[in-house]
Amino acid sequence: MFEHLDYKAYPILYVDDEPFALDTVQRQFKHDFTILIAPSGAKGLEVLAEQAVAVVLSDQRMPDMSGTQFLARVRAEHPETVRMLLTAYSDIESVVDAINLGNVCRYLTKPYEEREVRMALREGIERYVLVKERDTLYAEKIETMKRIARANRLSAVGTLAAGLAHEINNPLVPISTFLQMLPAKRKEPQPDEEYWGALYQVTVKEVERIRGLIRQLLTYAKFTGEAELNLEPVDFNALAHHMVVFLDPQARSKGVTVALTPAPTLTPVWVDAERIKQVFLNLLLNAIQAMPTGGTVTVTVRATTVKGCPHAEVEVADTGTGIPPDHLEKLFTPFFTTKGHEGSGLGLLTCHQVIDEHRGLIHVQSEVGRGTTFTVKLPINPRTYDRRRNARRWDDDSSLPAVA
Ligand SMILES: Nc1ncnc2c1ncn2[C@@H]1O[C@H](COP(=O)(O)OP(=O)(O)O)[C@@H](O)[C@H]1O
Ligand SMILES: [Mg+2]
Repeated sequence: MFEHLDYKAYPILYVDDEPFALDTVQRQFKHDFTILIAPSGAKGLEVLAEQAVAVVLSDQRMPDMSGTQFLARVRAEHPETVRMLLTAYSDIESVVDAINLGNVCRYLTKPYEEREVRMALREGIERYVLVKERDTLYAEKIETMKRIARANRLSAVGTLAAGLAHEINNPLVPISTFLQMLPAKRKEPQPDEEYWGALYQVTVKEVERIRGLIRQLLTYAKFTGEAELNLEPVDFNALAHHMVVFLDPQARSKGVTVALTPAPTLTPVWVDAERIKQVFLNLLLNAIQAMPTGGTVTVTVRATTVKGCPHAEVEVADTGTGIPPDHLEKLFTPFFTTKGHEGSGLGLLTCHQVIDEHRGLIHVQSEVGRGTTFTVKLPINPRTYDRRRNARRWDDDSSLPAVA
């Protein structure tokens, strides 16, 4: 894999306080590599600050700053460099620590064998290139994932726009039909009471339908999208209680009870409270609407984990109509509703978006005639929780070379 590698494109810095040694190294290796030199650790750091260096080779015994001290600083300031120490046998003790601490990846003994040093420098450059390549690949992978997420968002916008066009067009059809008849109707000597009555009713009803749709869409826009999440620590037991109380009138009017089981202990969850309230509002309303009179909707708050990370879980379970399998697939698509003019089909879509923004999960389980359970899991702190990384763990892929 390295047969076409241009070794001279990757500078090597050699640090030694003896001018003769600097001179020798440069003479011996300048045909194979680009050799930079520095007479002390301090000067070496200056060189590193100015240009990218693949391999740093340092003498151990130097006044002011020893080789191990110098390489420790190189590691801190330029961790991508491959660091090697050149030392006499008598100094071998000092090398052990440096290697164990990870400051040095290799040592060479003085006096050195030219061939051995040449090999070591070649391998050092190869290692540097591998690590760089791995970092680039990793960055590209992240970039690709971002692009996919963006594309998904855009196609969601497309679906939304198509659905919206359809939803607005439908009520416009009867309005338009009536309006086309209007000039002729106006000229009739006897007013056609039926026509004028229907014109008025249909227009008012259908315009109201469009306005309702727009109201829903504005809610959707308000609770999802690009605006930053306003994260704050929230007591989920209290939040669930608040929502249950808030929806009590709706539940009562249908003769439905809502029972809350709070979590015995739960640390505050970092969420955008307004958006999360909207999620539970939608889920609870759907549950209440699906229930027969006299039933009970149960809301349960629990502490849980997802792939070892602490999460809060809220479950909204009803014993209502249930959802048939072919509808389950369409649940989170815009405008899917079985409620006719009463529904918008934007509620669950909003839930999904908001939960996704919080790096959480939503899950639905349903059986026709028995009821439906929606489960929402949210990381205690979405800022420190990387759902993808936790799910795939490609960052500890052991097939990649270890970085010193
Ligand atoms: N708890 C539930 N029980 C039965 N059906 C449900 C439930 N929640 C959602 N649904 C189904 O999913 C559809 C979409 O829900 P939603 O996006 O909230 O829109 P809307 O409530 O306006 O119809 C509903 O019309 C209904 O068919
Ligand atoms: Mg709904």
